[in-house]
Amino acid sequence: MAMTMEMETKEEALKKGIAEFYDASSGTWEDIWGDHMHHGFYDPGATAPIRDHRAAQIRMIEEALRFAGVSDNPLKKTKKVVDVGCGIGGSSRYIAKKYGSHCQGITLSPIQVQRAQALSADEGLEDKVNFQVADALNQPFPDGQFDLVWSMESGEHMPDKVKFVSELARVAAPGATIVIVTWCHRDLLPSEANLTPDETSLLNKICNAYYLPSWCSAADYVKIANSLSLEDIKTADWSDYVAPFWPAVIRSAFTWKGFTSLLRTGWKTIKGALVMPLMIHGYNKKLIKFTIITCRKPA
Ligand SMILES: C[S@@+](CC[C@H](N)C(=O)[O-])C[C@H]1O[C@@H](n2cnc3c(N)ncnc32)[C@H](O)[C@@H]1O
Repeated sequence: MAMTMEMETKEEALKKGIAEFYDASSGTWEDIWGDHMHHGFYDPGATAPIRDHRAAQIRMIEEALRFAGVSDNPLKKTKKVVDVGCGIGGSSRYIAKKYGSHCQGITLSPIQVQRAQALSADEGLEDKVNFQVADALNQPFPDGQFDLVWSMESGEHMPDKVKFVSELARVAAPGATIVIVTWCHRDLLPSEANLTPDETSLLNKICNAYYLPSWCSAADYVKIANSLSLEDIKTADWSDYVAPFWPAVIRSAFTWKGFTSLLRTGWKTIKGALVMPLMIHGYNKKLIKFTIITCRKPA
């Protein structure tokens, strides 16, 4: 009993931390990077000029849809979409416009919800997209609702990956596609029970700054998807395709606009900026893996 209460308190503290982190930092991110709060997808070896980063973020969405086999054919319509961990709604608006879908976004941050609604109204998309504060691990939707279940860089915040994927599968309609794009650690070797202490220590530093409670590997996600009888499970390591992203984020933090914006938003955002070089270190050591996992709920 005491143990359960302790876990609940820890989960609530985590959710509060995530909400406050994004309440504080989303404006700064939007000022500099726009409405997509995720990595870009680049050609390997590319050193993209700053104006190309938005195109790289759009390409990330397109590559993820293509990898998942989401059809562009208007006869196979993607009508209802849930955007789990929606940020300020960049993916929702893009997908709503691309497919004419109705997108429902959830995030822990009330400020993100307000901003997502405002940006969508500016684009005349109020009847196509909707956003609310809700927990991905306890989604406010009935079973079997959505043709596309989309999670772009929110999985790393989830304290319980089994519950996370179970909820994605629960709200998916029969035959629906589930797309998870997320940060993983490397797969363990058959001889290993854990990451090395150095690796764990590096990840812990990143976790503390970005409210990432527990990392897992792509192989762990596959195990979970299999245990839920999901079908067509595919994964890929896209770390090489996202390599220019963090150096570009760091460069943007050192512009006058980036620097003053960071100072304005306070310690949580500054702490996030300070660990950015550790992300590059983690990728270089082949410890952090930028991963896509896609699967389908049985029809
Ligand atoms: C890095 S942002 C990505 C935002 C968006 N998917 C995008 O690509 O622009 C992570 C998002 O996950 C959300 N998030 C984290 N944990 C969550 C949870 N338990 N339930 C709902 N949203 C969550 C955060 O509030 C934030 O909106």
